[in-house]
Amino acid sequence: MTFLAIKNISKRYGPVHALDNIDLTVAAGSRTAIVGPSGSGKTTLLRIIAGFEVPDAGQVVLQGETLADGEAIVPAHRRGIGIVSQDGALFPHLSVSENIGFGMERGARDRDQRINALIDMVELDRGMLDRRPHQLSGGQQQRVALARALGRKPRLMLLDEPFSALDTGLRENMRKAVARVLQIAGITAVLVTHDQTEALSFADQVAVLREGKLIQAGTPQALYLSPRDRETALFLGDAIVLSADLDKGSAKCNLGHIPVDAERRQGRTEIMLRPEQLRLGSVDDAGAACIGKVTEIEFGGAVCTVTVVLSNANGSETLNIKSSGVGLPEIGSMVSVTVIGKAHVFNKLDA
Ligand SMILES: Nc1ncnc2c1ncn2[C@@H]1O[C@H](COP(=O)(O)OP(=O)(O)OP(=O)(O)O)[C@@H](O)[C@H]1O
Ligand SMILES: [Mg+2]
Repeated sequence: MTFLAIKNISKRYGPVHALDNIDLTVAAGSRTAIVGPSGSGKTTLLRIIAGFEVPDAGQVVLQGETLADGEAIVPAHRRGIGIVSQDGALFPHLSVSENIGFGMERGARDRDQRINALIDMVELDRGMLDRRPHQLSGGQQQRVALARALGRKPRLMLLDEPFSALDTGLRENMRKAVARVLQIAGITAVLVTHDQTEALSFADQVAVLREGKLIQAGTPQALYLSPRDRETALFLGDAIVLSADLDKGSAKCNLGHIPVDAERRQGRTEIMLRPEQLRLGSVDDAGAACIGKVTEIEFGGAVCTVTVVLSNANGSETLNIKSSGVGLPEIGSMVSVTVIGKAHVFNKLDA
């Protein structure tokens, strides 16, 4: 069921087309991640949904209620939408406890209990409840802002890079904790993030913005495995892009003949493989598509990058292959490369 519908939303700031005819729907109880380069319009879109910004054209409809229709809008405080903005935006003159409890009924019997539960959830020490925002680090402020937004039990939660100031381990914990709280409370959420792993693991739906345009929206799997174009592919992870000749579901390229996910496409085009679709093996591996020489190894702990230059009849190609740190080949040695699964054919019309 559609919970939130964004219909043909456009917004200009002088010459800048911050949003250009955006259409997006969000299902009830789901989590959507909006990703895109800096300046692509992510914050502007969240602010329009929240009611802090007025669109030039288009509608925002929440649970059937029109919140914005061009410049006619329902004010932010009447929308029942929670927002954690990019900068946290706490009330500087209020304590942490008062910030978190803001919007809760003053005399409510369970007020303190709820504040404690919220501060525990965002993994802050209860000893911080009496501090002021300026006595906290950036990451701690972000977590207070998150607790405050959750405390108001919004029907829709908008999160603008809420974990950006946290380090990796804590970031992952917070992401999981927030996902759990949202799910238990049945709150629909839209999250803006720069972090592709965060987008892919947090969301049911990922929407990619570029220069104010919605490039593609879909499940994390669909976007990761079937991105519309090269830029989207690279935005969501590492990719190996090769020129290929397509014929009857097979691509002839520098890796030999490999199956593709577009059986009816013909002719010359670009295909994409994710690095984990390539396996390194020994030169006498049966079934290996091609042989190459290891020219470089970047040690990265659990995941290392092995650069292989192919040297077979199919031509010359440099590949960056992900490999476990265990049993790495030597620089200068010959290895075989095997392709797992199908290559993806981009959706471009000129292909
Ligand atoms: N109030 C404003 N006045 C003028 N231009 C603005 C205003 N707000 C945003 N813009 C411009 O609109 C474009 C989109 O900005 P927005 O803040 O939505 O980007 P973003 O995707 O959130 O970027 P980031 O990842 O850096 O936070 C940018 O070019 C920005 O400079
Ligand atoms: Mg932003």
